[in-house]
Amino acid sequence: MRTRPLKVALLGCGVVGSEVARIMTTHADDLAARIGAPVELAGVAVRRPSKVREGIDPELITTDAMALVKRGDIDVVVEVIGGVEPARTLITTAFEQGASVVSANKALLAQDGAALHAAAEEHGRDLYYEAAVAGAIPLIRPLRESLAGDKVNRVLGIVNGTTNFILDKMDTSGAGYSEALDEATALGYAEADPTADVEGFDAAAKAAILAGIAFHTRVRLDDVYREGMTEVTAADFASAKRMGCTIKLLAICERAADGESVTARVHPAMIPLSHPLASVRGAYNAVFVESEAAGQLMFYGPGAGGSPTASAVLGDLVAVCRNRLNDATGPGDSAYTQLPVSSMGEVVTRYHISLDVADKPGVLAQVATVFAEHGVSIDTVRQQGKDGEASLVVVTHRAPDAALGGTVAALRKLDTVRGVASIMRVEGE
Ligand SMILES: NC(=O)c1ccc[n+]([C@@H]2O[C@H](COP(=O)([O-])OP(=O)(O)OC[C@H]3O[C@@H](n4cnc5c(N)ncnc54)[C@H](OP(=O)(O)O)[C@@H]3O)[C@@H](O)[C@H]2O)c1
Repeated sequence: MRTRPLKVALLGCGVVGSEVARIMTTHADDLAARIGAPVELAGVAVRRPSKVREGIDPELITTDAMALVKRGDIDVVVEVIGGVEPARTLITTAFEQGASVVSANKALLAQDGAALHAAAEEHGRDLYYEAAVAGAIPLIRPLRESLAGDKVNRVLGIVNGTTNFILDKMDTSGAGYSEALDEATALGYAEADPTADVEGFDAAAKAAILAGIAFHTRVRLDDVYREGMTEVTAADFASAKRMGCTIKLLAICERAADGESVTARVHPAMIPLSHPLASVRGAYNAVFVESEAAGQLMFYGPGAGGSPTASAVLGDLVAVCRNRLNDATGPGDSAYTQLPVSSMGEVVTRYHISLDVADKPGVLAQVATVFAEHGVSIDTVRQQGKDGEASLVVVTHRAPDAALGGTVAALRKLDTVRGVASIMRVEGE
């Protein structure tokens, strides 16, 4: 074993960083044996230097992350600050200084992954980010390496634990969205400002990263269609139950049937209770991958939290340290297919539409005609009437999203349709 240690700069020592530092210290001997050289924590950059950080030598703490990165003797920079800046500049500087980088930063990678990969390549260094998608769950490495000889056609997953906790609560207790969110906040599953989670921004960043890797193409954050889950109601869950389904916020990345384009989207959807993703409870994450040769694969586990996320960071740290010792790099960017990303209108799926209608003869025929005129074929219809008003629940066969949009716009114009109570896509069948 090499005795000269590999030097690691830890940028950020919060929920994830403090666990990275702890595991690096407590498992130092095992990590050294697995890498073939000791790893030394050379410095820890934080914002608040006076905060007590258990197990970390106060001498290592600095508020000058840039000076730490530029020290000249750093082999690996672990970036767990989060956000776009200063993380982006720190990472690019790390490559310029000859260091490899491990990051957990989904927001930055979804936005600037291509430029960061290019910088890593230019300087012959690694950029690894297993922790950026689905926390502890090995997903990036299986897609990049284990499935490198296969053709992935679909990635369908629950990649945000906060929203899964809220939806699971609504499903099992009959609670409304606000009540379930309050409980998630009280238990620490939701942040004080939950927007990034509940509006699907966090899942969209992960979908962009996953789609790019799975289909070897470039998918930017703006390419991902995004709908949050704040409009999901207890009535939607009751409807889902009647269909033998539940509701999940899904990230769905698909290759088109002709293989010539891809799509990436995040939205709430009904999935059958028989689908493996339906049984993913609480704050857990799971990702279902469908590939040509392997068939269906499911990856499941804790998608967040300090220690689980640190597990993924440490796995990357070991991998990039091994590469440093071998004077090599691991797999880099692989966006060679340059497949275009299609718009949401071209996505083909099934729909569950709930309408408030007048309870009088001929309404059903009128509604059915609108669906037929837009080329959307109806699978089932359920009607419930009371005191001159009725609700009509229509489940369609597979149709393009644009056709469904046209149907709904036309339905809203009918005098007999009082309102469109909900529209939900049905996936996983
Ligand atoms: N938390 C999770 O479960 C989880 C899961 C997957 C991925 N991630 C990703 O991991 C990253 C870190 O998340 P986290 O939850 O650990 O965040 P966090 O608890 O807020 O920690 C952020 C750390 O960065 C430090 N920091 C902030 N600005 C800085 C600056 N300008 N210079 C130096 N240090 C600075 C903070 O210093 P102070 O300690 O002084 O405030 C803190 O130590 C994010 O990219 C996040 O998306 C997190």
